[in-house]
Amino acid sequence: MEVSEAIRNRRSVRKFKDKRVPREDLVELVDYARLAPSGMNKQPLEFVIVDEPELERELFAYTSWAGALDWNPGMEERPRAYILILINPEVKPVTEKRDAGLAAENICLGAVDKELGSCLQIPSEKEEIRKLLGVSNDRVISLAIGLGYPDQETRLEEGSDNIDYWFDDEGVFHVPKRPVEDILHVNKWQAGEVN
Ligand SMILES: Cc1cc2nc3c(=O)[nH]c(=O)nc-3n(C[C@H](O)[C@H](O)[C@H](O)COP(=O)(O)O)c2cc1C
Repeated sequence: MEVSEAIRNRRSVRKFKDKRVPREDLVELVDYARLAPSGMNKQPLEFVIVDEPELERELFAYTSWAGALDWNPGMEERPRAYILILINPEVKPVTEKRDAGLAAENICLGAVDKELGSCLQIPSEKEEIRKLLGVSNDRVISLAIGLGYPDQETRLEEGSDNIDYWFDDEGVFHVPKRPVEDILHVNKWQAGEVN
């Protein structure tokens, strides 16, 4: 798959099929993540794959979904695996949050190539997750990425004035993006250029 195709087709997925994700695919996604850029090449990130059914089910309880909507996926729609991104402060990282974001995008783009859907999560109940997965107090829980086979259609909306995403009556999830002409400046930033 072309990188441009993966970028265009990646959308956050919030309804998943009841189908396990092969462990080797999850490991390969972590391999993509480890190759992401890292400030001063400190590489402060570690990753936890969670695909054991009891654990992923429990982890689902500590995730929150589509904050802009009054809606959450049901238990049967949950991701069937997660990759957690941890930060190791012992390596004295300089750009750890950016590193985590870049690693996460490698995972999400790699997932498209494997016909997997993904959705980022900043877990709010980190201490519960720490306990559930036995994560050392010496590691910071940065991001979780829910993964699974999509059970929803997601459509990119271009040219919409509104940036709120929405489900339509057929269950299609629409994601508006700001148009390039509203956000691009060339060489010099010009006031008034952005609407
Ligand atoms: C740092 C970060 C945290 C996010 N956390 C959540 C989350 O907790 N729950 C969720 O459903 N989506 C979450 N998202 C996904 C965004 O809602 C999504 O990226 C946005 O609506 C644009 O849709 P797209 O990913 O399909 O382009 C998060 C995205 C980012 C970048």
